[in-house]
Amino acid sequence: MTALKEFDSEIYNLIEKEKERQMNGLELIPSENFVSLAVLEANGSILTNKYSEGYSGKRYYGGCQIIDGVEDLAIDRAKKLFGAEHVNVQPLSGAPANIGAYFAILEPGDTVLGMDLSHGGHLTHGHPITYISKIFNFQRYKTDLETGLIDFDNVRKMAKEFKPKLILCGYSAYSRDLDYKQFKEIADEIDAYTMADIAHIAGLIAAGKMNNPVKEFDIVTTTTHKTLRGPRGGMIMCKEELAKKIDKSIFPGLQGGPHENLIAGKAVAFKEALQPEFKTYAEQIMKNAKTLEKEFIEAGFKLCFNGTENHLILMDVTSKGLSGKEAEKVLDAANITLNKNMIPDDPRSPMDPSGVRFGTPSLTTRGMKEKEMKKVAQWMIALLENPKDEKLIESTKKEIKELCNDFIFYK
Ligand SMILES: Cc1ncc(COP(=O)(O)O)c(C=O)c1O
Repeated sequence: MTALKEFDSEIYNLIEKEKERQMNGLELIPSENFVSLAVLEANGSILTNKYSEGYSGKRYYGGCQIIDGVEDLAIDRAKKLFGAEHVNVQPLSGAPANIGAYFAILEPGDTVLGMDLSHGGHLTHGHPITYISKIFNFQRYKTDLETGLIDFDNVRKMAKEFKPKLILCGYSAYSRDLDYKQFKEIADEIDAYTMADIAHIAGLIAAGKMNNPVKEFDIVTTTTHKTLRGPRGGMIMCKEELAKKIDKSIFPGLQGGPHENLIAGKAVAFKEALQPEFKTYAEQIMKNAKTLEKEFIEAGFKLCFNGTENHLILMDVTSKGLSGKEAEKVLDAANITLNKNMIPDDPRSPMDPSGVRFGTPSLTTRGMKEKEMKKVAQWMIALLENPKDEKLIESTKKEIKELCNDFIFYK
């Protein structure tokens, strides 16, 4: 980054500091990952200069003949990766992908049945604080507090009662796999559309390690920057018969010019995910999460949804006398980064909830395996059980730095 260093040392220095932070600590936020240098290069390329409103072969700007090739490649690779009939790679992120999908098939006032936020749903699934909750009527189902599974009897009951035009599944903080067939059966009974938001688990699905809704569901949305390990961005996959509606909804309905540098980054990430090594990577993400699960259960922590079948764990920390905010703070002080999170039916507030959410994609990208995960869990357990022990915080921070030095991802 020589030009940047020379022209704008303030931004250059902040980027270097952030790189140090990312490399010297343990990144456990389950929605984050470290992209490859190839993806970074595509993101930072001259494709950022080009306007290309419209779609391949039908653009509103001249000079798009090369850009068309970039977008076509991204689409072809995504189709291959997920087995999709139609793909739109233009959504700028996960939120616009979801909003674009709603407007493609719904009219204002229509009802959507989605998961309650405290049980793992995302803000864009109709949280009352969002604009879309003022446009569509969102009803919320929950998980069964005993089994940690989706209560399909209740989903069916709610579907019959509220007659939603869309049944939505796929979550931000849910740690179990999903039975998409059951959602589809219920949707067929009331003639509703089906949509899955696989933002968190897209990489695990692409690698064939989790159930794939793409064949059965009408619409599948995702981000590209979580387990899929691509640039920040979104994507929509759908059945061919919805292709025109989805494309029109994203452009001109919701967005302007697509970010072609990021679409190139998506294409590169999809190529990486098509390699056999990506399957091993996804498998290791899940093995690492299982190792954390075992350590925390043995230490007497309460894991929501009875543990994990993917890359993340949602953990209730109140039984250890801490709030989620306090847990986040003490771990942060030792350079362990995760986020406070609501647990199902949380009696506490979103700014100081009962739980923390953490996951393994970033550490797995750095090459860490079960042996390192055991250490990570032991550090976290000791800190959570002794949150006021300043000496422990300092010594853990040092030990973490030593471990991190053996797993430097960005030199
Ligand atoms: C399930 C789910 N959908 C959508 C989004 C929104 O993605 P973005 O932050 O890229 O807009 C997220 C983000 O965390 C998510 O977890």
